[in-house]
Amino acid sequence: MKHYYELDEWNIIEKGFNACNNEISESIFSLGNGFMGQRANFEEAYSGNSLSGNYIAGVYYPDKTRVGWWKNGYPEYFAKVLNSTNWIGINIKVNDITLDLAKCSVREFKRVLNMKEGYLKRSFVATLENGNEIEVNAKRFISMTRSEIGVIKYSIRLLNFSGKLEVSPYLDGNVVNCDSNYDETFWDETSKGAKPYEAYVMLKTKKLDFHVCTSMTFQLTKNGEIIKPIVTLNESEKYVSNTVSVDCYKNDELVIYKYVANSSSRYYKLQELIKITRELASIAKKDGFEMLLEEQSKSWSEKWRESDIVIKGDVSAQQGIRFNIFQLNQTYTGEDYRLNIGPKGFTGEKYGGGTYWDTEAYCIPFYLSTAKEKVSKNLLLYRYNQLGKAIENAKKLGFKDGAALYPMVTMNGEECHNEWEITFEEIHRNGAIAYAIYNYVNYTGDKSYLYEFGLEVLIAISRFWAQRATFSSKKNKYVILGVTGPNEYENNVNNNWYTNKIACWTMQYTLNVINSLNEHQGKTLDELKSKVNFKDDEIINWKNIIKNMYYPLDEELGIFLQQDGYMDKEQILVKDLDKKNIPINQNWSWDRILRSCFIKQADVLQGIYLFEQEYDMATIKRNFDFYEPRTVHESSLSPCIHTILAAKIGNHEKAYDMYLRASRLDLDNYNNDTKDGCHTTSMAGTWMAVVHGFGGLRVINNKLILNPFIPDHWCSCSFKIMFRGALLNIKFTKETLQIQNENEIPINLSVHENDYYLNGNGLLEVKLS
Ligand code: BGC
Repeated sequence: MKHYYELDEWNIIEKGFNACNNEISESIFSLGNGFMGQRANFEEAYSGNSLSGNYIAGVYYPDKTRVGWWKNGYPEYFAKVLNSTNWIGINIKVNDITLDLAKCSVREFKRVLNMKEGYLKRSFVATLENGNEIEVNAKRFISMTRSEIGVIKYSIRLLNFSGKLEVSPYLDGNVVNCDSNYDETFWDETSKGAKPYEAYVMLKTKKLDFHVCTSMTFQLTKNGEIIKPIVTLNESEKYVSNTVSVDCYKNDELVIYKYVANSSSRYYKLQELIKITRELASIAKKDGFEMLLEEQSKSWSEKWRESDIVIKGDVSAQQGIRFNIFQLNQTYTGEDYRLNIGPKGFTGEKYGGGTYWDTEAYCIPFYLSTAKEKVSKNLLLYRYNQLGKAIENAKKLGFKDGAALYPMVTMNGEECHNEWEITFEEIHRNGAIAYAIYNYVNYTGDKSYLYEFGLEVLIAISRFWAQRATFSSKKNKYVILGVTGPNEYENNVNNNWYTNKIACWTMQYTLNVINSLNEHQGKTLDELKSKVNFKDDEIINWKNIIKNMYYPLDEELGIFLQQDGYMDKEQILVKDLDKKNIPINQNWSWDRILRSCFIKQADVLQGIYLFEQEYDMATIKRNFDFYEPRTVHESSLSPCIHTILAAKIGNHEKAYDMYLRASRLDLDNYNNDTKDGCHTTSMAGTWMAVVHGFGGLRVINNKLILNPFIPDHWCSCSFKIMFRGALLNIKFTKETLQIQNENEIPINLSVHENDYYLNGNGLLEVKLS
């Protein structure tokens, strides 16, 4: 569906009503504010295909595990962020006929996601079965400044008739998760109430006792004048509504403003929840739609000031990257250290809304550069707070002495994933968590997290690696057996190069931190050692493993081998595959995939990206040229890493192709799965593709490094980053690089290996060619 949405720099625009694409559009036009989010379902009734979705961050349900064959060590449940009360609903009846776009003729349909100001707009003309024609204009947003508030303005104009409009704003808690394991419903009603122009419903999860209260209030205008028609109340199980009936003439416009608050027991005392939620909705109503919209627009303008990327000369690329940044900013704001980022954000149910290694490997770099330090620090704290559970998790699998294995998927620190080849074997995730600590310290220069919390995490992860490695007397080396690397198209392999590499890197980094703490703050180190019962012979053991780790290589080809047996596989390139086989995960048996040489996502290349300073250009190029043609990129996390490395080795065309694929993955539905939700975490990878790829940004020895190159198709590219107090607007063309420091803090940096000093509020210009 390439370019199904119109190309535009700031908006996603869908023109024409195509019911068959509706679920894809519901994902694309999703809204959120970090605390709640929703798919772009219609306000009015819709009987066509739709995945209704409203989600409250952190409110989840431990759905009992369902597997074909139980294995010891599997978790009891898979946590799911719950579909919660549908709060957007407004039933419309036109002369007693229900407005339902699946049952009437629709023209001039247009849906617009305004990313600059953060709202969703929809307009259409509908002709109902009785011939009555109405024009509808709906606008809604989820407030970035008032975390509980969502607002809708819904206008109906009578085009060819006079008659009765019946409008019923409602709240409906009769919702299901389509991924429920046993077709159970997850909510019970605890209380509800409706009175004229106001209603609320409070639900409680059947397990864990999360309470969510949703309250609505509304106002009507007819031709711009406030009206207050008599209201009929309706209540049923988990459902409340108000109905008003208004007689209108042809050309009259009836507008309903619906103000909703969603609050949960995660933030408010249970006894106060209803009162507070009703108050919040009523304050929103008092302040009014226009004022709230203005707040919204201001808040987004601030977000864009800090995180925008501007690409001139390529609208498709521009729209792609803004869409990615928009989705990321509406998924996670970093204000609550108990929250994290699910792979689909608030745009769908797949992956249960849990936390994956995606956060550390992909999202942290984005938030490090585009948000205050606190935001990425909170993501690190999230893992620190779950360290105890990670130690328990490792213990269940037979590890000991404080070794930690962070879960593959989690909501509260407990493992939720239940496929042995991933749950028990895809252990490289542990390394990503360690690397994120390094990344934070390296980027910000702030060591407070490291010393107070980070080292404890590093020690526990290093302990895991030390116990997970086996000494092979045959090889006279340490090996790591039975793993799944980032490439999930091979399972239970021995010596996945990436896993061996990140394991040793973690132990080495931990040793470095211990050394530096020993030099500077010996007392803190002693306290930590006694807290975690650290023995100095652990240091000797780690050093020994690091020194004697086995890394599979193919000396003839001069490449790192993805795993011991990789070269035994039949070597075929993706370009030689019949197109009808792609994506292979939708066309081949799993067995065939596992035996093939095709790589789902960056694996060896993921490692080279993380540790590129250790390799010369020729080595990077050899590995890239070997692995890229074998990679099918069937994980959205893959093309961005390939973009960065292609840019690094000067394969500019490849870098551009991969970038487009990454940035428009959902907009163009590349992997034919956008209807399940957007690939939110990989959107951060798209940002990395521009900033680390085309911008060549790195931080080495406390210095910001830029090695920009611009794809042929682009006139200029600019991105905003925050770096150690400076806010930099970095703009490059083929000929020049301009860096405007928008804050007072000066910085040192280097461009194509030349050093510069940039004053606070200063401007630096560098000739590139
Ligand atoms: C990828 C994993 C990723 C997960 C969630 C899978 O398809 O292979 O690396 O963590 O999706 O995004």
